[in-house]
Amino acid sequence: MFPATCEDTIGPYYPYSFTDTDRDDLTVVHPGVVLRPQGEAIELRGRVLDIDGKPAHGVLLEFWQADAQGSYRDSADPHFRGLSRIHAHDGEFRLRTIKPGAEPGRAPCITVTLFSDGFSRLVTQFFLEDTADPVLDSVPAHRRNLLVPKQIRPGVYTVDIVLSGKDETPFFEDLHETPRVHGIGPTDRTSEQRTPRERLLPIPAVGLAGFTPLHTELPALRAGENDLTRLSAGRQRAAGEAIEIIGSVRDAAGKPQAGVLVEVWNANSFGRYAHVADDHDYPLDPLFLGEGRGITGLDGGFRFWTVMPGHYIARPDINRWRPAHIHFSVRGGGSRLITQMYFDGDPYNDTDPMRVLMGADFVRQIGVPSLPSSQEVSRAFRFDIVLGRTYFEQPA
Ligand SMILES: [Fe+2]
Repeated sequence: MFPATCEDTIGPYYPYSFTDTDRDDLTVVHPGVVLRPQGEAIELRGRVLDIDGKPAHGVLLEFWQADAQGSYRDSADPHFRGLSRIHAHDGEFRLRTIKPGAEPGRAPCITVTLFSDGFSRLVTQFFLEDTADPVLDSVPAHRRNLLVPKQIRPGVYTVDIVLSGKDETPFFEDLHETPRVHGIGPTDRTSEQRTPRERLLPIPAVGLAGFTPLHTELPALRAGENDLTRLSAGRQRAAGEAIEIIGSVRDAAGKPQAGVLVEVWNANSFGRYAHVADDHDYPLDPLFLGEGRGITGLDGGFRFWTVMPGHYIARPDINRWRPAHIHFSVRGGGSRLITQMYFDGDPYNDTDPMRVLMGADFVRQIGVPSLPSSQEVSRAFRFDIVLGRTYFEQPA
């Protein structure tokens, strides 16, 4: 059991978008925007089932696919994002999307990544046409039908993702050298029920491009997702001092934890979150959403760029201010763990409840000044997360 911090470690401003369900429709740019992606709108729906055939609750699903022309990153369609995220609270999912086109040499397909307690990450691909495909052909013939959703009526496809047991979905891996992520915290003991029994299948080289967002070598899930200082690559910088946070996730023995999903969020330089629950009067920065994600690499490392967060008042009744801080969520083979990074010398550190609870151990939560990797950031801080040493919020 990890030492506990008080439960407001997560703060009231956890970004909805990390768990939201409003990225389940790729047929629109954003709700309320009339511009639309090209192509045929389809629906893919189904369930995530555990070994007993029961809905596996709380699985985070990510879908990644080419646009209608079969193009991924350099998409000819500026209104198609290709990446969606659904939190299957009750084990069910429903994705509205554009029917993907076929890349050269491939069949139209949708890649699915699953994150949950009990496994670090699982990936598979679903094929919308029963045509030859090198990835599908790499699966034993008797299991291929598990990767071909049924079309129950025009444009509507269904498929179940079976995590374990009979009719287990074939899952793939491209991470042969990656150390497995072991449990990083208390779990709900359902991992045995969910872990695949079948061996993961290697992704054929020809199929790797379609799985690209899953590469652990990348510092983020997709380009720019670990750079909070811009809304997207090439855009104008947010207000404030651009800083870099580098660090790693390791266990108590020093072993790097690869493939861990790290989420960060922080207030803008004025101390305001771009979050509906934040009703402070501090200015919003239209160029700062304040949330980012990354996946640790083989060395357990992560890297974020953000702006130096401002102070905000947490308890006006007793005039208590929060020191500058950055929230971290670490999610791997076990339950999600939440912590915060602080900055040395902040005048409000001494009165912060977490500082009071931790006593001298507070030093573990302080980012250590470090060498920036780029002149685009003015300062860098190292924050190494050590399981069993870093303070985390106690799971409820
Ligand atoms: Fe906060």
